[in-house]
Amino acid sequence: MNFPKSPFLFKINKHPSPLSDKKREEILKNPGFGQFFTDHMVIIKWTEDKGWYDAIISQYKPLEISPASVILHYAQGIFEGLKAYRAKDGRILLFRPEANAQRFVESAKRLAMPELPKDIFLDAVKQLVKIDQKWVSDHPNASLYLRPFMFGNDNLLKVHPSREYIFCIIASPAESYFTGQKTTISVWLETDYSRAGPGGTGTAKCGGNYAASLIAQNNATQNNCSQVLFLDMVEHKWIEELGGMNICFIMANNILVTPALNGTILAGITRHSILKLAQQMGLTIEERPYSFEELKEDVKSSHLKEVFACGTAAVITAIGRIKYKDGECIIANETCGEITEKLRTQLIDIQKGNIEDKNGWVHSVRLS
Ligand SMILES: Cc1ncc(COP(=O)(O)O)c(C=O)c1O
Repeated sequence: MNFPKSPFLFKINKHPSPLSDKKREEILKNPGFGQFFTDHMVIIKWTEDKGWYDAIISQYKPLEISPASVILHYAQGIFEGLKAYRAKDGRILLFRPEANAQRFVESAKRLAMPELPKDIFLDAVKQLVKIDQKWVSDHPNASLYLRPFMFGNDNLLKVHPSREYIFCIIASPAESYFTGQKTTISVWLETDYSRAGPGGTGTAKCGGNYAASLIAQNNATQNNCSQVLFLDMVEHKWIEELGGMNICFIMANNILVTPALNGTILAGITRHSILKLAQQMGLTIEERPYSFEELKEDVKSSHLKEVFACGTAAVITAIGRIKYKDGECIIANETCGEITEKLRTQLIDIQKGNIEDKNGWVHSVRLS
């Protein structure tokens, strides 16, 4: 797949003293998630008069913003998350980056922000990966997590859409999101707090959604769960998604059920890819409302066989236990089910270029 050619010129100021090979290799042995950052970052600015201007790739460093900046007070900010993988033949592969570029446009619209043209988004991602290519490790389970983000930076306390914006991309070497876990995770079904409601920002990837989820995430942690599972805001009945991932259920008769995109759930790119792969594997897909009551019945009757979380960070992670105030459901004896494992392996093999990419999802970054 080829990206359209961006007419945009990036000024490139290479880091004068990037991390030594030895120190970088040390980090890449055990990067965790989101703890370390590569040598460079992208910055592009926007104002009403100039549009997008001053695109630069330079060393990773703190940003200087006014204490009155709109982002600090009114959270006018959006972000994306995608990964670059090292293939066995040395190529660096991006997974569906144009889908992230498109979702970034949608998020910007919802938060009354200017749209970053997709070709600029893609070019910026590509250029950062190229300059920091040594940070894309070939260790199994390793990737370079790319975090594009944009925020309103107007220096005015009145509540208003900012008249100035900054777009950045930073990159962070990553391994599995859920470390130190068994093959399955436990999730906390939250009944007091919701993540997003009708007409709200649930479908946008904006920081406010995550801020609203943190108190429930604390409940999850206190109950020894690694993620929170949200119900809908109106009836507190319908399963929506996890704090940072979508959720899928595999039923006895090869049916994959996942909550429909109802205007409050983030349209995960991994979710979309899995639905396609599952369909190609012969599963029947049901995107529909699925209630917690139905889930409990399905567990009791053994109709529900497997549950998994899916997202860029988590890839596909089996859920073995769903805890809630009055009890818990155990799924597949807390093991990773056959279909979950098959989908996981297939997705990772496509992302890493080990098998044919029939859907045209993978883009190889030109490195020279
Ligand atoms: C709330 C939420 N839902 C779902 C997802 C999964 O989206 P994707 O597969 O595009 O990473 C994410 C992660 O980005 C998320 O934060």
